[in-house]
Amino acid sequence: MTDIKKLFIRTYGCQMNVYDSERMAEALGAEGYVETDSPDDADMILLNTCHIREKAAEKVYSELGRYKDLKAAKPDLKIGVAGCVAQAEGEEIIARQPMVDLVVGPQTYHRLPDMVAKAGKGEKVVDTDFPAEDKFEELKARPKARRGPTAFLTVQEGCDKFCAFCVVPYTRGAEVSRPAERILREARDLVEKGVREITLLGQNVNAYHGAGEDGDWSLARLIRELARVDGLERIRFTTSHPNDMSDDLIAAHGEVDKLMPYLHLPVQSGSDRILKRMNRSHTAEEYLRLIERIRAARPDILISGDFIVGFPEETAKDFEDTMALIRAVHYGQAFSFKYSPRPGTPAAERPQVDAAEASDRLQRLQALINEQAAAVMAGMVGREIGVLFEKPGRMAGQMVGKSDYLHAVHVTADGIAPGDLRRVRITEAGPNSLAGALV
Ligand code: SAH
Ligand code: SF4
Ligand code: F3S
Repeated sequence: MTDIKKLFIRTYGCQMNVYDSERMAEALGAEGYVETDSPDDADMILLNTCHIREKAAEKVYSELGRYKDLKAAKPDLKIGVAGCVAQAEGEEIIARQPMVDLVVGPQTYHRLPDMVAKAGKGEKVVDTDFPAEDKFEELKARPKARRGPTAFLTVQEGCDKFCAFCVVPYTRGAEVSRPAERILREARDLVEKGVREITLLGQNVNAYHGAGEDGDWSLARLIRELARVDGLERIRFTTSHPNDMSDDLIAAHGEVDKLMPYLHLPVQSGSDRILKRMNRSHTAEEYLRLIERIRAARPDILISGDFIVGFPEETAKDFEDTMALIRAVHYGQAFSFKYSPRPGTPAAERPQVDAAEASDRLQRLQALINEQAAAVMAGMVGREIGVLFEKPGRMAGQMVGKSDYLHAVHVTADGIAPGDLRRVRITEAGPNSLAGALV
């Protein structure tokens, strides 16, 4: 028997889950687990799950079903469910799928090493507490040598907004901001490992108010301090709520060079009636004025958003209001979803929109967004922009990176290495990416 065990992690859902998966892999790495790309040779399979829509949550059970034969052939294989489905369903998961050995919520994964040890002895373990301790401080991290040029860093977690459709306040708990010094320390550590771009994460990241050396820091203050970290070239943050876009944060977009000209600012609907029922606590007009102020501070900023269509009682007129808002904003990108009733949320009990009608609206909305996104990409042709290169492309001699505006950019040239930030003149816009040449 060797001590090295193999860990397979599959991650669903948002960027915060991607970050959490990295931290879980590190914590288990300290216990002798090495990551593998294939579930077939794993000693432990961990699914980091998402509960945001029904489809996302149900994927977990179909995925588990696929491991049945594996588990039968290899009884020592341990299977764990982490993340937001784990939090929402807890021991029900084991009742429904008895081959699951452990269930760990998003706030208790620093306890994973202990849980895994117990599971190793044949116990079923479920931990979905909201503990008082800071999981990030409790986590045993195994120092990882080098990293790619981009990284996520969670600065705020949880949500107190209770939008009528959303499970996040229940799965992630109340809003908590991490102390600023710990974030700066983690950022410096990432930069030492090769990271050039950090995306600050939070379910309501612009509500960040972490303890700093001289009182609470806002997100704008945190960004200004991070911008002083040598070797860190780019800063992004996601996801923001319109009501927490402070003047200071808007100003930072015009003043901090390292803060990238891209803002994900979901609005969900353009109808005041629906916004009210969603409990979003702002109007369509207020959102539009906000976008104007942001563009005044940073004229080239690219706005992205999230939309829900077919929210309970959404009429054809409400939907047209959403389309009008989209035309007024002109998005660079947007994610859109058909409303999915979620257990325990207020909207799930209300009269639902006809499914075919909702699908039709979604299609129309996506066509409009795609048109806008394509126009924005076409507008990049001829411009000179920054590109942070990440990896070789599919063609020989090609490198791929992300522009300041988050578009994928291909360049064919010698002497570009991952992690290089270069000026590129865009020559061509394709459906999903741009092509360009070094300046
Ligand atoms: N905190 C972010 C959103 C997190 S969830 C915010 O406030 O905007 C990501 C996106 O999933 C949401 O913006 C919303 O568009 C979508 N979403 C959330 N709950 C949903 C549901 N029940 N049905 C369909 N889409 C949903
Ligand atoms: Fe969900 Fe609303 Fe909180 Fe975003 S702000 S996480 S949509 S409850
Ligand atoms: Fe999904 Fe949880 Fe993120 S529900 S979207 S993984 S916060």
